Amino acid sequence: MTVKAAFIGSGGIASHHMKQIKQNRGYSIVAACDIAEDRVQKFCQDFEIPRHYTDMNKMLENEQLDAVLVCTPNYAHAAPTIAALKAGIHVYCEKPMAMNVAEGRKMLKAAQDSKATLTIGHHQRFEPASQFLHKERLAGTFGDIYFARAVMHRRGFVPWWGAFHIKAKSGGGALIDIGCHIIDLTLWLMGSPNPVEVTGVATAKLATRTDGSRPNQNKEKAHEFDVDDFATAYVRMDNGASLAVECSWACNSAVGRLVELYGDEGGATIQPLTIYTQRHGQFVDIHPGKLPEVQPHGAATEHFRRVILGEAENLVKPEETLNVQKILDGIYKSTTTGKAVRIAD
Ligand SMILES: NC(=O)c1ccc[n+]([C@@H]2O[C@H](COP(=O)([O-])OP(=O)(O)OC[C@H]3O[C@@H](n4cnc5c(N)ncnc54)[C@H](O)[C@@H]3O)[C@@H](O)[C@H]2O)c1
Repeated sequence: MTVKAAFIGSGGIASHHMKQIKQNRGYSIVAACDIAEDRVQKFCQDFEIPRHYTDMNKMLENEQLDAVLVCTPNYAHAAPTIAALKAGIHVYCEKPMAMNVAEGRKMLKAAQDSKATLTIGHHQRFEPASQFLHKERLAGTFGDIYFARAVMHRRGFVPWWGAFHIKAKSGGGALIDIGCHIIDLTLWLMGSPNPVEVTGVATAKLATRTDGSRPNQNKEKAHEFDVDDFATAYVRMDNGASLAVECSWACNSAVGRLVELYGDEGGATIQPLTIYTQRHGQFVDIHPGKLPEVQPHGAATEHFRRVILGEAENLVKPEETLNVQKILDGIYKSTTTGKAVRIAD
C-alpha cells in the first residue's frame, strides 16, 4: 500500500531520499515545499511531483497527507514537525532531531499528544552490520555492555553547502551533524541506556583555514564558520556504562568510522564487523560472512512507511533521539564551562 507524502525542504538529502523512494515505490509523493521557490520547482520537475509550495501551512491544509519528510536545515526541524504532528500527519524528520534539547522535548511532546508517529533519520541503524550487532546484543552475545566507543572522523570534508557551518542555523558543527549519527547508533547498540553526565570539548582547529595548506578549504565561507570541526567526550550512563565519543569534519587522522562495544561476555567492532568472545577457554573472533547490500536511507524511509501502515514498530524512537540531543547539548555546555555536566531527566 502506498503512503501519500510530501517533502518539507528540497535540497541535497531530499533528492537522495527521493531517488530511493522512486526505486522502492512505496510512497506517492504529491507535493514538496521549500522557502526557495526555484529550488522546489526544480525538485518537483526532476522527480515528477505534481505540486510545489513555499508555505508549509498551505501545503498541510491543501493536501490530504499521511506523512511528511522534514529535510530542512536543523533550525527548521522542530516547527514543521510539530505542525504536522498536530495535524495528525506522520513525520520522518532528518537528523539531528533538533537544535537543542528544549526543541527536542517539544517535538517529543507533540508526538506523544498525537496519534501520528515521529521518527528521526538515523539511517545508520538500518545498515546490515548495525542490524546484525543489534540482534547479537538481544541474543545476549555481549552480556553486560559496560563501555563503548563512538568515532566518526573525516580527514577533510566540511559540508560547505547550506547552513551546516553557521551555528544559528545548525546548532553546532561536526558534533551535531555527524556526531549525532554515531552517538545514536552506539547508544542503540548498547541497549539505549540513559546518559547522566557528560564531559567534553568541541573545538574548531582546521575548518577556518584559508591558507591553501589543506584540501577542502573554502575562502568565501570560512569567515562565517562559527561551529566546531572536532569534538571529544566522555559520557556516563545510568546503568554504570560509559561511552567515549570522537568526531570531526577535519582532522589529521586516517581513522574513519568506528563503533566498539565492550561487554562482559563479548565485544564487537562494526567495521570490520567482528565479534570478540570466547569458546571452550579460547579467545574467538567471529567474522560474519557477506551481509546483504542495503541502501540504508532507502531502508529507513521504507521502514517508516511500514510503521505508518502498522506493519512495523518505530525503530528510531524520539525518546531515544532526545537522549542523543542531551549528550550533544551536554558536550557543548561542558566546552563552555570546562566542567562535567549533569544531564537532567
Ligand atoms: N541522514 C543523512 O545522511 C543526512 C545527510 C545530509 C543531510 N542531512 C540532514 O538533512 C537536513 C538538510 O540537509 P541538506 O544537505 O539537504 O541541506 P540543503 O541545504 O541541501 O537543503 C535544505 C533545503 O531546505 C530549505 N529550507 C530552509 N529553511 C526552510 C524552511 N523553513 N522551510 C522549508 N524549506 C526550508 C532550503 O532552501 C534548502 O533547499 C539537515 O538537517 C541535515 O543534517 C541528513
